[in-house]
Amino acid sequence: MQLLDRTAVITGAGSGVGRASALRFAEEGARVVVADVDLDRATETVGLVEGRGGRAVAVRADVSAETDVAAMIATATDAFERLDIVFNNVGIPTPRLGMTFLDHSLEDFERLTAVNFRGVFLGMKHAVTQFRAQGGGGVILNTGSVAGLVGWGGTVYGATKGAVHQLTKAVAVECAPEGIRVNAICPGAMPYTGFMAAGGLELPADQLDDVANAAGSIHPMGRPVRAEDCAEAAVYLCSDRAANVTGVLLPIDGGYVAR
Ligand SMILES: NC(=O)c1ccc[n+]([C@@H]2O[C@H](COP(=O)([O-])OP(=O)(O)OC[C@H]3O[C@@H](n4cnc5c(N)ncnc54)[C@H](O)[C@@H]3O)[C@@H](O)[C@H]2O)c1
Repeated sequence: MQLLDRTAVITGAGSGVGRASALRFAEEGARVVVADVDLDRATETVGLVEGRGGRAVAVRADVSAETDVAAMIATATDAFERLDIVFNNVGIPTPRLGMTFLDHSLEDFERLTAVNFRGVFLGMKHAVTQFRAQGGGGVILNTGSVAGLVGWGGTVYGATKGAVHQLTKAVAVECAPEGIRVNAICPGAMPYTGFMAAGGLELPADQLDDVANAAGSIHPMGRPVRAEDCAEAAVYLCSDRAANVTGVLLPIDGGYVAR
């Protein structure tokens, strides 16, 4: 029960890393606000959490819209009285995976930066505002990417993740005196989440395993990264076991960026 009685907001919790984290956070005793732009998926996650005896509420929020983000944070305090953890996990891929730099239109650029960069900025801003109002510190976790650590994995997408990494470190330093910790996980390729389909690559199950094995083979550990790997790291970074850990960009990548 590493997160007992903590209230955690998790964005993008209708799928992939966010859903796996909602389930693990609830198992560790947290009350979870399951936020997603897709309310049906968020509600489904709540059902899964409750089915395992956990507590959660669903909220529809587009992280690129400030009014939605403010309402999402208010949902946490309305439902569970205080806010302890905000996990800014949403990220969208390029409209077509494999696009080169010059393939990106201005609209592609604006969309990627609005969701991946502005969305994290807004989540952090409203988290810190609430943490200050209630006192006693708080925890922010962001989802970056190995694509923001090395120059491979989508040019504009990777740049938005590099921006998330920089925000993570800078706000960690700025807010440390208030007891607010800020970290990021940086996943490697995770073929089994909804991310590839969001990038226009929806594969039948048999082909998916081949793609997953190919993705795994580029990691020194030799297997693909899974949403559950990220959820484990998220539990640790949001728990008191990481009480003196802040400003960290933790690759969850089977050793990919260590090469
Ligand atoms: N899957 C990968 O290969 C991979 C690799 C590195 C990093 N990441 C990062 O991991 C994070 C989670 O991705 P995932 O693989 O679980 O993807 P996913 O597609 O399974 O889940 C993303 C969720 O975010 C929601 N969402 C999309 N836009 C939103 C918005 N504007 N507001 C609120 N919710 C929104 C979607 O509805 C979906 O439920 C993202 O930040 C992604 O960039 C993924």
